[in-house]
Amino acid sequence: MPFQMRRLLYKYGEDILGSDQFRQAFGQTHHKCMTVADHSLGVCVVCLYICLVLEKIHISVHVRDLTVAALCHDLGIMGRYEKYRNNIECCGRHPVDSLDCIRDLIGEEEYSDIIENSVRRHMWPLTPVPPRYREGLILTMADKVSAVMERLGRSPARGLDRESILRLSPAAESFSSEDLDLPV
Ligand SMILES: [Fe+2]
Ligand SMILES: [Fe+2]
Repeated sequence: MPFQMRRLLYKYGEDILGSDQFRQAFGQTHHKCMTVADHSLGVCVVCLYICLVLEKIHISVHVRDLTVAALCHDLGIMGRYEKYRNNIECCGRHPVDSLDCIRDLIGEEEYSDIIENSVRRHMWPLTPVPPRYREGLILTMADKVSAVMERLGRSPARGLDRESILRLSPAAESFSSEDLDLPV
């Protein structure tokens, strides 16, 4: 993972990565072989790769909202065995529960329609309504790509953990996404 992408991840995901909710997500298994937190990091890595590719062909992406959505899209799964009766119920309801987590984490002022719709619709096409924004389509695609790579033992989040991200903090303070010429 390029260093500049790690900086973007830290710049937009710092508060989420340092939260109790995300820390607890390292303790919840997901896709049988991962944790919710590791999977979410992998999805975010794939999303940021896609952003870099799209930027090269002058397609703008709201990187901050996409980073928040990617890191939080499955936080609603926490406690799934107590909350949901089966996998079908989990599939339908965890995006809405993830939105509650996001409001708690970032507050209403930072909450946006892009985050709302992207997370709510990220299970498409397993759920019938597609995302409305390109950020949602990127998240949906990255979610599937990361899940397949995890099953193959090649998670996009390999070698990346919360501690390694937080070690970037001094450099991240002076970093601007404009350094990358990325739209935000
Ligand atoms: Fe999900
Ligand atoms: Fe996911």
